[in-house]
Amino acid sequence: MKKVFSGVQPTGNIHIGNYLGALKQFVELQEENDCVYCIVDLHSITLPQDPKILRKNILDVAALYIAIGLNPKKSTIFVQSMVSGHSELAWILLCSSYTGELSRMTQFKQKSRGNESAPTGLFAYPALMAADILLYDSNVVPVGNDQKQHIEITRDIAIRVNNKYGKTFVVPEGRFLKEGARIMSLDDPTVKMSKSAENIHSRISLLDDSGKIKKSIMKSTTDSEGEIRFDMENKPGISNLLNIYSSFSGLPVADIEKKYEGSGYGVFKKDLVEVTVESIIPIQLRYNEIRESEELIRILKEGAERATVISEKTMNRVKENFGLGI
Ligand code: TYM
Repeated sequence: MKKVFSGVQPTGNIHIGNYLGALKQFVELQEENDCVYCIVDLHSITLPQDPKILRKNILDVAALYIAIGLNPKKSTIFVQSMVSGHSELAWILLCSSYTGELSRMTQFKQKSRGNESAPTGLFAYPALMAADILLYDSNVVPVGNDQKQHIEITRDIAIRVNNKYGKTFVVPEGRFLKEGARIMSLDDPTVKMSKSAENIHSRISLLDDSGKIKKSIMKSTTDSEGEIRFDMENKPGISNLLNIYSSFSGLPVADIEKKYEGSGYGVFKKDLVEVTVESIIPIQLRYNEIRESEELIRILKEGAERATVISEKTMNRVKENFGLGI
């Protein structure tokens, strides 16, 4: 049994990229592993948030966790800020990380865009993420491709601490899916699908209704060649749609190419709408059942208690090895 940890930021518009890259893995992994899944609200405040909307978004992600099939009896589900070990360990890890490596992070470069008044938290972000993972002695971290660099720095910090202070942390590994690891934007398939893009048709949110899903897929950017063939470099639009189709249906891309040989993009897109809607609507039905329930709050409180017990053990070991306290 392996220890699994992952997290999602409560920043609204959770989309099929998040689902196919990460969340789908969470559910698969919970059957045979010891899984801890977090709603990383402390990460979300590295950029400005409206407090009321943040609280709503936290509960939205929690309800989505349950709706996609996470079972609180099998997985520990909680909100990051409710377990103080995350920020405590993040500080300690910041003291074992270098400004050079943090400033090389693509996410920091993109989000700060050289702006001197970018929040310091944005710079420190990877140390908090490393703390999340290392606090639970995690072996496996299921994420999308965009988190690769953050997993690498987590490993580097863990190895560095182990070398300097003696074996303190388990060195984790990222887990990336082949088809879902990088779902691209529907209007510009050269950039990844994101929660914050202005055009709502660039993404399919897990809470979109079927009319919106249809519109976004039918409008999606493809090429003028008309052949349904996977070629990410020359045909990124149709390749992205093939990835989405494959991830939702479980069919290999090659089988889908064969199935639609000689068909036009219109026919393929219509079927993709169906495959997507069929996968998402059951999630929405479960989401609506749980979102306003007391049960959701109970799950999060119990999850935080369980996570606190595990994290305190790690913090005791860390403090002992670092010579902190008495
Ligand atoms: P976040 O909230 O941006 O995204 C949540 C998960 O979704 C994946 N993802 C994608 N996968 C495929 N295609 C896409 N277009 C796409 N967009 C996002 C992300 O890779 C992620 O797995 N830093 C993390 C949250 C985090 C975390 C952690 C993750 C904080 N601490 C510890 C794992 C372990 C983030 O911002 O994810």
